[in-house]
Amino acid sequence: MIKLKSKKEIEKIRASGKILAETFEIIKENLKSGITTKEIDNIAYDYIIKCGAKPAFKGYMGYPASICISVNDEVIHGIPSKRIIKEGDIVSLDLGVDLQGFISDSAITIPVGETGRDVQLLLKTTQECLFKGISMAVTGNRISDISKAIFIHAKKYNFGIVRDFCGHGVGFSVHEEPQIPNYINNGPNPRLKTGMVLAIEPMINIGGDEVIVMDDKWTVKTADKSLSAHFEHTVAVFDDRAEILTFL
Ligand code: MF3
Ligand code: CO
Repeated sequence: MIKLKSKKEIEKIRASGKILAETFEIIKENLKSGITTKEIDNIAYDYIIKCGAKPAFKGYMGYPASICISVNDEVIHGIPSKRIIKEGDIVSLDLGVDLQGFISDSAITIPVGETGRDVQLLLKTTQECLFKGISMAVTGNRISDISKAIFIHAKKYNFGIVRDFCGHGVGFSVHEEPQIPNYINNGPNPRLKTGMVLAIEPMINIGGDEVIVMDDKWTVKTADKSLSAHFEHTVAVFDDRAEILTFL
């Protein structure tokens, strides 16, 4: 069942998403070579608590931290640790905020220092995939319109598209129906309705589509060790537009 959200509820999710976007801004100021991923986790936790909210991922399915931090060939769900960020790394941050039961979800990938042209193309294209997907999130379209827009854009550059993880409904819990694949498929394909709140999240690799889960049962890496990028926004579906709720 897809749970529709009222205007009022969407405003609460937007308030949650604003705290999330602010948290990313603070992390960006601190994301330099030498910082550990655990230190980034602490920054996220402290700011979210200061705002009177909770980190939505902490404890979700047993996840042990506030934020997922996935570096280079790590795709998603990297657990903060003593790992030190170094010059040339690309760092994916994926964060959920719970403000009085209203959940927002967003991700960004940030280059630290100088990176190559290929890396810049990966980051730019993944972000473009997200915005092309978002532009399709209007009433009357179908989930597949979002999937198709993301897939076609990533394929222009022959990038790999992660299939084992998808976007999803969000707002009252971290993961709700419907699933939003980033590729063209024959699965369930509901029509979009006003009041749906969706987390759209392309995960794109320089190499192939294949990913593997590490022994920690969380960290997902590309099978071919190629670099991976992840951008995500929580958006609300309206008659004539999609509104991004995870903005400043
Ligand atoms: N960030 C993931 C998503 O976007 C969910 C994180 S799972 C958690 O769907 F366990 F880390 F919370
Ligand atoms: Co998500």
